Amino acid sequence: MAIEAVINVDLGGPRINRHLYGHFAEHLGRCVYGGFYVGEDSGIPNERGLRLDVVEALRELHIPNLRWPGGCFADEYHWRDGIGPRDRRPVMVNTHWGGVEENNHFGTHEFMALCEMLGAEPYIAGNVGSGTVREMSEWVEYLTRDGDSPMARLRKANGREEPWPVRFWGLGNEAWGCGGNMTAEHYAQEARRYGTYCRDYGGNTLYKIAAGANSADYAWTETLMKQVGHLGCRHVSSTAYHALSVHYYTVTGPTWEQKGSATAFDTGEYYRTMVSAARIEEILAGHEAVMDCYDPGRSVGLVLDEWGTWFDVEPGTNPGFLYQQNTLRDALVASTHFDVFHRHADRLVMANIAQTVNVLQAMILTDPDSDAMVLTPTYHVFHMNRGHQDATSLRVDFRTALPSRAVGEATLTTVSMSASRKDSRLLVSLSNLDADEGAEVEIELRGGALGTVDAVILTSGTLPDHNTPESPSAVAPRPYDGVTVAGGTLRAHLPAHSFVTVSGVL
Ligand code: AHR
Repeated sequence: MAIEAVINVDLGGPRINRHLYGHFAEHLGRCVYGGFYVGEDSGIPNERGLRLDVVEALRELHIPNLRWPGGCFADEYHWRDGIGPRDRRPVMVNTHWGGVEENNHFGTHEFMALCEMLGAEPYIAGNVGSGTVREMSEWVEYLTRDGDSPMARLRKANGREEPWPVRFWGLGNEAWGCGGNMTAEHYAQEARRYGTYCRDYGGNTLYKIAAGANSADYAWTETLMKQVGHLGCRHVSSTAYHALSVHYYTVTGPTWEQKGSATAFDTGEYYRTMVSAARIEEILAGHEAVMDCYDPGRSVGLVLDEWGTWFDVEPGTNPGFLYQQNTLRDALVASTHFDVFHRHADRLVMANIAQTVNVLQAMILTDPDSDAMVLTPTYHVFHMNRGHQDATSLRVDFRTALPSRAVGEATLTTVSMSASRKDSRLLVSLSNLDADEGAEVEIELRGGALGTVDAVILTSGTLPDHNTPESPSAVAPRPYDGVTVAGGTLRAHLPAHSFVTVSGVL
């Protein structure tokens, strides 16, 4: 029996903000050093120390924004340590991540150069936990102030004449934990205070993002919403914040100390991962419901600025470096997260996967012992889905029940889909999470018809399959012939554990 769905291709919907495909790079393990940044003296081809093959591969994803410098690291980062001649920059200890020395060779100018090379907007997370209001205020001035001022002069003295456009500004990170162990009430006041002194200079208008809740802590969101500003006005007060964040990681368990291996897992563990991933929908809906009570016009954005899988580190690697492999299971976690994001596009304005290179659910893994790098299965999902960026999200309605499986006490729906339209191009994303069974799907495209379609599939023999320098394409997308279109009906066979995208012109 085929799953029957309807997509009204001629009806409008919310815009899928391209920033839902955002990224996150922290000074953590080998994300920055040994990932993005190898230094100018490296034998690996680089420009200003930035690794060119990594940049080239990421450009293909059309990364809309990159969050930096953390994470927990953001709240112990002092930006003035990362400007000026590198050999004179002070060294600090990265207390959160492995206790290693941080030489500050990758700082503000290096980050902005990286963003320019990637074509991505910067999203800077300021230091609330151990910094000062003045420090944050001056960083904004340093980056964005046109004309003459102390910080603009300092920037120019360091070789950058023009200010940079910087829109996204984080007021700390995880203030309930590594960002200062604050109560929600205390942090809300701090966020208002810090936000007040982060100024708009010239044509640069900041979009300030308050550090939000840990997964289902809806009370945190409620406290921040009470303090957000003048919601009676058409525009939220510029002295407050424009968005709240939330963090949610897919953790398989059974405990935080035993999260399970990224590659050695059985089917039961796989399904538990997918149940954890599916919780993102309930979590976003919970925060949105609270926000709607205070802001029914939805002018305050929700930003999921950390998401992704979190497994045990690879054996033999530094536990503080959070280095994990990435399998087809990770790809399906990503593809189903995007379906949820597309459904919540009227409130969710940004999401950032943790993290881009060598940390947690990465796009790229670089080999510490050679110049090799591999694209992960998660990279391929971002690539296959990039056409959803800035497209109109289309509802998918089901005429028949979706297949599901009991997983412990939970029920996992095993087929997931979403669709969007940009101009006349339709893009449908389909995931079959069942480890063993294929699925048939029949979609009525109401209000339009497709001619020919391009279909691409990401799957592999077994779920733990992953890419390595020796076998870089073990999990890679391929053209797919299991999709047909006749008139206004699209039929697809979805093999077990697969992700398929179908695109065509209406
Ligand atoms: O992404 C790794 C860490 O997870 C971040 O530094 C922190 O914000 C979160 O707890």
